[in-house]
Amino acid sequence: MKIVSDIINKDKSLFIENKLKDICPKIFNENILLKFEESNIHILNTNYKKPAFVNISFLDKKVNDRLKIRMRDNNDIFNKIFPDKGSEILDCTAGFGRDARILDLLGYKVTMIEKSPLIILILKNALNILKDHNLTLYYGDSYDFLNHSEKEYDYIYIDFMFDKTKDKSLSSKNDEILKIISLSEKNKNRLIKLAIKKSKKRVIVKEPKHSSSNIINANFNIKTKLINYNIYNGENK
Ligand SMILES: C[S@@+](CC[C@H](N)C(=O)[O-])C[C@H]1O[C@@H](n2cnc3c(N)ncnc32)[C@H](O)[C@@H]1O
Repeated sequence: MKIVSDIINKDKSLFIENKLKDICPKIFNENILLKFEESNIHILNTNYKKPAFVNISFLDKKVNDRLKIRMRDNNDIFNKIFPDKGSEILDCTAGFGRDARILDLLGYKVTMIEKSPLIILILKNALNILKDHNLTLYYGDSYDFLNHSEKEYDYIYIDFMFDKTKDKSLSSKNDEILKIISLSEKNKNRLIKLAIKKSKKRVIVKEPKHSSSNIINANFNIKTKLINYNIYNGENK
């Protein structure tokens, strides 16, 4: 990875460079360009002949058009998964915040946790530019957060990085970059079990339909063409 920055962002870029050297030095072997330019943070995947440009913005027209379609659809899968509107949701795996933003627009109150310092920086930047939202973002490990948090959440949502899947179609350019820069969870079941204890209503674990991961059996599942949502009943009633 190469990092380039304009003068305004020099401190920020140096800070993230040092942090990444500490936490995930392997990332510097990846073909990625991280570019700080005024209020924008861009990532370029230079693995392609024509480098793929990824800009995480909730203001992007295409992103917003897709969100509007989902918001108008009463049969949207999130209405089935999170049946009680206005509930408090803890998103243990924020990533690029796409699921959290949909939930935010659907009227839930969402707290996001993310353990990659680079993703936190990118996401925080995108949220600052968005301004009008009801999302809270914390940097850290969700297991530690849940273990120490006094606050109670109705739903706890977990979207681990997809393991090997037969569904190549699930991999968008953003997901490819996310796979490279994110930090994986080594003990998925430990996090799921703690989430079940802490959740008032449900724990939802998103996986691709043909996932090869070995997570504990759910109470029931809600499936779409490509995704399997594992639903566990919360025990903190
Ligand atoms: C598949 S991505 C989530 C994508 C997200 N749902 C979205 O809509 O963009 C998984 C993210 O969870 C983060 N992560 C994995 N384990 C975590 C943990 N224990 N605590 C906090 N973040 C974690 C990874 O760094 C990665 O960014």
